Amino acid sequence: MTITTTKIWLSSPHMGQKEQHYVNEAFDTNWVAPLGPNVNGFEASIENYLDNKVHVAALSSGTAAIHLGLVLLGVSTGDEVLCQSFTFSASANPICYLGAKPVFIDSEKDTWNISPVLLKKAIEDRIEKGKKPKAIIAVHLYGMPYKVDEVKAIGEQYGIPVLEDSAEALGSTYKGVKCGSFGEIGVLSFNGNKIITTSGGGAMVTQNNEYKEKAVFLATQSRDNAPHYQHSEVGYNYRMSNVLAGIGRGQMEVLDDRVAARRFNFEYYKQKLGHISGIEFLEEMPEMYSNRWLTCILTPSVQIREKIRCQLQEVDIESRPLWKPMHLQPVFQNCDSYVDGTSEELFDRGLCLPSGSNLQTTDLDRVIAVILKIMTK
Ligand SMILES: Cc1ncc(COP(=O)(O)O)c(C=O)c1O
Repeated sequence: MTITTTKIWLSSPHMGQKEQHYVNEAFDTNWVAPLGPNVNGFEASIENYLDNKVHVAALSSGTAAIHLGLVLLGVSTGDEVLCQSFTFSASANPICYLGAKPVFIDSEKDTWNISPVLLKKAIEDRIEKGKKPKAIIAVHLYGMPYKVDEVKAIGEQYGIPVLEDSAEALGSTYKGVKCGSFGEIGVLSFNGNKIITTSGGGAMVTQNNEYKEKAVFLATQSRDNAPHYQHSEVGYNYRMSNVLAGIGRGQMEVLDDRVAARRFNFEYYKQKLGHISGIEFLEEMPEMYSNRWLTCILTPSVQIREKIRCQLQEVDIESRPLWKPMHLQPVFQNCDSYVDGTSEELFDRGLCLPSGSNLQTTDLDRVIAVILKIMTK
């Protein structure tokens, strides 16, 4: 095998044919502002894609969408918010922006997402301690849906709304319905490494149009209806730029292709590595369809995971350990958690492999060769 010197990235942007057309249109018409036809068009195309009577507000990031979502759910100083521990820190940080406290919940083995058993246990324990949690943040990690029905039922049983962090799961479905549209509030991210990108950006999704209107109001500095600048509420500068929304419009036109390409990557890796003793892949449950944003493998131990990661790095291939759980992060060391070791083990053993939709099979073969060499010694 010839090793080329081209770097293989974990997940790089992949432009289609139309992005530049929409961006040029923004320049040609001077809609170089955080409003305009691309913002409206991008929102409409996401609403149409999610296909579940949803309303979408395009924002500057997924983190901003989580922040505004929590504001809309009434989270404020001193509240507690239950949050999946196994996730990227952006799921939890906005809880702290509001002076509230995250309480972390471990994952279950089937989906690597929030454990309905531990979630219920945590809610009952917090209520017994005299504090009912204000919201639940559940995450479709790496594109794999969480157990939507179970989590929803628990939320309804105790009257606690669910914020659905679908930052990594645009294109995934649960029982045939698109992820992003299940929560009281849903969140999407269009960061540069996501399945589609606007370079940086995000969106809040909701079935409640009043939430959308309020989100746009808050995202544009909470400006009252007056000829002068008047504000009765604290506002934010979180709206998406019309230039970036142009990239998003083009990306929406190729989203299905991007999902297909990432699913192909997963199948290819599994076909070539699935038979190796000590390498495991996360399978979909029958009601789930993952966009396979990142293909992740479990190795036998943290030592072998590191050996693979370092040897990939030596030949210019980027890979990454799975997310370090939030309950193990120094910044959250004073937060309570309900854990059983599942996410800690996933973190120790797991590695994300290069998964971009622009990778060729020759790129995947380079990754596979390194892993095979280590695992079949
Ligand atoms: C699970 C999860 N939540 C939230 C975010 C935040 O999105 P953004 O980077 O657009 O702020 C990301 C990605 O970055 C993510 O992976």
